[in-house]
Amino acid sequence: MSRRRRVYEGKAKVLYEGPEPGTLIQHFKDDATANNNQKHATIEGKGVLNNRISEFIFTKLNDIGVPTHFIRSINMREQLIREVEIIPCEVVVRNVAAGSLTKRLGIEEGTQLPRSIIEFYYKNDELGDPMVSEEHITAFGWATPQEIDDMMALALRVNDFMAGLFLGIGIRLVDFKVEFGRLYEGDMVRVVLADEISPDSCRLWDIRTNDKLDKDRFRQDMGGLIEAYQEVARRLGILFENEPKRRGPTLVK
Ligand code: TMP
Repeated sequence: MSRRRRVYEGKAKVLYEGPEPGTLIQHFKDDATANNNQKHATIEGKGVLNNRISEFIFTKLNDIGVPTHFIRSINMREQLIREVEIIPCEVVVRNVAAGSLTKRLGIEEGTQLPRSIIEFYYKNDELGDPMVSEEHITAFGWATPQEIDDMMALALRVNDFMAGLFLGIGIRLVDFKVEFGRLYEGDMVRVVLADEISPDSCRLWDIRTNDKLDKDRFRQDMGGLIEAYQEVARRLGILFENEPKRRGPTLVK
């Protein structure tokens, strides 16, 4: 058996060469990092849950016409994706004040924002992913004005879809981070959603109790991360794959 060629290894995922040109295999690891790599741990089962949750959300986004890199699930830790050129900007959408916004602007955690706010961060580990403006992005050529428009429009569609999806299962979508890539198809190039969407990259709070069901449990040493991610998967109806009743989200009244 030949070894697969590793194309890229990140903090929580590995990309391998895919079966056909233009495809890759995205493998979810159990590693967790925070504070720009200062904190590191292996949390058994996290990769499987993130793969499952991300696959579920990307499938639904494909279904509603949001272009993504996702093709199909391969196994419990891996998915087949289209190879894209990652745009070096993380896009954060915020609905409720939390995390770095509360620290930067002194807004109390949990404050509902007057409208959804989009922020850009330059993907650069050495610099700790600094926040940047559209001016920086265009001046340094990280993305064109049209690509910025596309990323913002897609990020807001993802926000509307996910806010509704999670509201229906009793979870508040506080904020999330997404990444985009350029997909080359012949002479055409278009911006598509890439990377992952999981409790590693979102803030998800239980609507009734405000319990954190996301990676803040690791960042803030709260424990119970796997149980929280399992709760998200359970409410989405994707934890027990063999149980017919559990297919699809369960409405929480
Ligand atoms: P922040 O409040 O720390 O800026 O994070 C905003 C959102 O982005 C939150 O849902 C966590 C997510 N995020 C990542 O997925 N990766 C990162 O490296 C950072 C800093 C945040």
